Amino acid sequence: MRLFLLFSFSALLLHEAYGFTDEPDRKALLDIKSQVSEENQDVLSSWNNSSPLCNWKGVTCGLKHKRVTRLDLGGWQLSGMIPPSIGNLSFLISLDLSENSIGGTIPYKVGNLFRLKYLNMSSNFLGGEIPDNLFNCSRLLGLDLSDNHLGGGVPSELESLEKLEILNLGVNNLRGKLPASLGNLTSLMRVRFSHNNLEGNIPDDLAKLTQLVRLVLGSNKFSGGFPLSIYNFSSLEYLNMFGNVFSGSLKPDFGNLLPKLQLLHMGANSFTGPIPTTLSKISNLQEFGIEYNKMIGSIPLSFGKLKNLQKLRLNNNSLGSYSSGDLDFLQALSNCTQLLTLLVNRNKLGGDLPTSITNLSTNLWKLDLGTNFISGTIPYDIGNLVSLQNLVLRENLLTGPLPSSIGKLSRLVFLNLTSNRMSGEAFFNRQHHLEIMQIQSLVELDLSNNSLTGSLPEYIKPLERLCTLSVAHNKLYGQLPQVLGNCLSLENLYLQGIFFYGDIPNIKGLMGAKRLDFSNNDFSGSIPGYFGNFSLLEYLNLSINNFVGEVPTEGKFRNATVVLVFGYQYLCGGIKELKLNQCIVQAQPSHSSSSNKVAIELSIGIALLLMVLMAYISLCWSRKIKNNQLSSNSTSSSAREVVHEKISYAYLRNATDGFSSSNLIGSGSFGTVFKAFLPTENKVVAVKVLNLQRRGAMKSFMTECEALKDIRHRNLVKLLTACSSTDLQGNYFRALIYELMPNGSLDMWLHPEEVEEIHRPSRTLTLFERLNIATDVISVLEYIHVYCHEPIAHCDLKPSNVLLDKDLTGHVSDFGIARLLMKLDQESFFNHLSSAGVRGTIGYAAPGQPSIYGDVYSFGVLLLEMFTGKRPTNDLFGGNVTLNSYIKLALPERVLDIADNSILNSGLRAGFPLDEYLIMVFKVGLRCCEESPKNRLATSEARKELILIRERFFIDRR
Ligand SMILES: *[C@@H]1O[C@H](CO)[C@@H](O)[C@H](O)[C@H]1NC(C)=O
Ligand SMILES: *[C@@H]1O[C@H](CO)[C@@H](O)[C@H](O)[C@H]1NC(C)=O
Ligand SMILES: *[C@@H]1O[C@H](CO)[C@@H](O)[C@H](O)[C@H]1NC(C)=O
Ligand SMILES: *[C@@H]1O[C@H](CO)[C@@H](O)[C@H](O)[C@H]1NC(C)=O
Repeated sequence: MRLFLLFSFSALLLHEAYGFTDEPDRKALLDIKSQVSEENQDVLSSWNNSSPLCNWKGVTCGLKHKRVTRLDLGGWQLSGMIPPSIGNLSFLISLDLSENSIGGTIPYKVGNLFRLKYLNMSSNFLGGEIPDNLFNCSRLLGLDLSDNHLGGGVPSELESLEKLEILNLGVNNLRGKLPASLGNLTSLMRVRFSHNNLEGNIPDDLAKLTQLVRLVLGSNKFSGGFPLSIYNFSSLEYLNMFGNVFSGSLKPDFGNLLPKLQLLHMGANSFTGPIPTTLSKISNLQEFGIEYNKMIGSIPLSFGKLKNLQKLRLNNNSLGSYSSGDLDFLQALSNCTQLLTLLVNRNKLGGDLPTSITNLSTNLWKLDLGTNFISGTIPYDIGNLVSLQNLVLRENLLTGPLPSSIGKLSRLVFLNLTSNRMSGEAFFNRQHHLEIMQIQSLVELDLSNNSLTGSLPEYIKPLERLCTLSVAHNKLYGQLPQVLGNCLSLENLYLQGIFFYGDIPNIKGLMGAKRLDFSNNDFSGSIPGYFGNFSLLEYLNLSINNFVGEVPTEGKFRNATVVLVFGYQYLCGGIKELKLNQCIVQAQPSHSSSSNKVAIELSIGIALLLMVLMAYISLCWSRKIKNNQLSSNSTSSSAREVVHEKISYAYLRNATDGFSSSNLIGSGSFGTVFKAFLPTENKVVAVKVLNLQRRGAMKSFMTECEALKDIRHRNLVKLLTACSSTDLQGNYFRALIYELMPNGSLDMWLHPEEVEEIHRPSRTLTLFERLNIATDVISVLEYIHVYCHEPIAHCDLKPSNVLLDKDLTGHVSDFGIARLLMKLDQESFFNHLSSAGVRGTIGYAAPGQPSIYGDVYSFGVLLLEMFTGKRPTNDLFGGNVTLNSYIKLALPERVLDIADNSILNSGLRAGFPLDEYLIMVFKVGLRCCEESPKNRLATSEARKELILIRERFFIDRR
């Protein structure tokens, strides 16, 4: 042993002294170093003449000859170009340059690397075509050039890479047809061509690829019938054909031929014919999607044999025969205990809804049977499906009552039963309270266009997440309960066409409302003036009611496109456009009460009123009947569902003035944000252009964005749509289009001194505003950690990711991106996080892997920053002194010393116990920032604490 050491030491000396063996490698690597630049400046610094070549970072040498055999430069944030001298590394076996920003073309000298087995250049900016020389590397086992800008066709010379097992050319600009010679690569196991512009039939010669395990063809323009060659791939586990123009029908013995499949994605093509019953032979099938095709016939009962089935998507086809028997498959599916998603909406399914639906998997979280011809009643035990989050039965022929067990669906977020024929009490019945309005997770509830009776419950715990409540066009009656005013998240309230009467109670709390429809009811009393102060209000319909008195003229009441008051009411005043009579008694100086005015108004018109009363009532009734008829006629037509609302690059370019710097509103870890005016929508939005240079491939980007759009919370910045397109140079371009938040980011408000003057907020945030924003942020975290189908971590929470709307309500942004990357490409996501990009947000990221506990940590830091006005990266901190320890030391005596000065000056009443509040808040912050994730507060606890503090504040500030 000692001898050997001695020997290798002297070998090293020799080689240092004369440098003969590795000279070509050293020269080549230094040449590479000189041609690429590196954001970090620290990786390539080890590449210098003073250290032995084999110790350079990313370099591995052969044991005997000390020549370079591996080069691992993946994810090093390199840019620039690769020089031809790379071809001199003639002992190279594995070359990884993935996930960098390398441009130019693939150097043709790579073809000299005849020993090469693995070549990975994925996720760069490489253009041009795949060079012919590459096909000299005949020992290649793995070739990954995905996620670049490669053009041209798939070269037929690929066949000379005889040993190739893995071929990934996805996410490029490749055109033309697949060459038949690909069939000669009989060792291939994993092949990916998705997201290119490839077209034509899949060649029959591919039938020789019998080792194939994964074949990904999605998002191209491939056409023709289901490729016969694929039926030969008996080892295939994953087949993705999504988003092409394949047509024709599937072989009846499909399942016998491809028995190993686990994931089968065939959506968005033009397949027709029946679903083969032999799919039941594919015992490991986990996902089957053939949505958006033209499939006909019945849904096979044999799906019930697939014990591992998790996702079944058959929506938007022509399945079923409008008759009983169409839903028998539901009974069979009760054997599939792993089922998570079942989508059969928009087909021709008829017959009664079977009670067996209640035996479906208790893991089921998304069930959509909407827009079919389903009759019968909702089974009593629907509440057995305890994991349901999305339940959609809209646009069917369902009758009978809402079963009270719906109240057991404690995770329900989205319930849409609109346009059926349901009757019975909507919220109560004789035996049971129907607890639908007590499901705290509800965000959207739509029971409109049915024949439900009863009234809205008067005593409910406020639904804190409820965003949309529609009970329009039913037979509900009674008075509007005041508790509704406590559903503070409510944005859309549709109460039109019911039989509500009496005054509108005090619902001032619905400050965030956007659309309020009270039309076609019997509401009386005066119109509440506070609606004028609802700053987000876009639509307020008060038409056809019994309102009396003066129409307010302040705030939103100034705008005739927002407020509608048609119909026969006893109203006067308002703005000119409403064309109402002037009020006879002119408005008196401010303190005259409106009821006074009403009384005078009434006494003048009282005779007239009595005379027309009877006529009026009958008129209203006939309107209601007409309205109900109208709505039931429109049952089957409304609500187009679009696969992808495509927005093009060109459209966004125009909308942002060519992405001009004058529209630039920020840039974050994942991309650059522009303000844009969308002319067709007549809307100003924020466009986040994703920074693709450092990211891996993105499969089915648009599908994922659709899923993101389903995740809603009042305090998440709303994702409106997305763009997956190519720019003028043909480069991949992906952008997310968000609601614009006019008040910028929390970061700007906390650190105004760092903001350019034109963007600088005109004042600072008060204590109460800070408490509110903190509560907004933690409610989002609770929602994504606790109430989403699977807990989702945000991973990059910090003040610049908290945006403020007109009312300074906090909205968390960038949440979607973490999830997108997480779902699409976990590996690249984690790489991305660990690279300087995101982790650069030093101070906010908890030690360890990103997780929901990490989010709590970041929230803690955010809270401490919000109330001290100091970033965790402030110059004060370093070494052992952190923001946390700085605060810990000051508590409790010196709390006012460390608080943000602008809070001290924010006009609280004399004697207000500010120090107590700050201590309470800092304690919550510190408990969120505990070193060990186990000791941190749970998200829900943190939220509760903050809400308690805020409630106390309400009492104390008086
Ligand atoms: C490669 O494939 C083509 C087309 O399938 C065929 O004509 C050719 O003979 C094959 N070459 C070899 C070496 O097998
Ligand atoms: C469901 O499982 C039971 C017991 O394993 C079996 O007898 C039955 O045939 C299965 N049903 C279907 C439709 O596969
Ligand atoms: C009136 O409201 C509409 C819709 O919200 C809005 O587009 C318009 O700018 C408003 N007009 C005025 C004068 O505020
Ligand atoms: C319920 O579905 C209808 C279409 O059938 C749609 O118009 C409505 O917006 C949906 N309700 C909610 C709350 O999303």
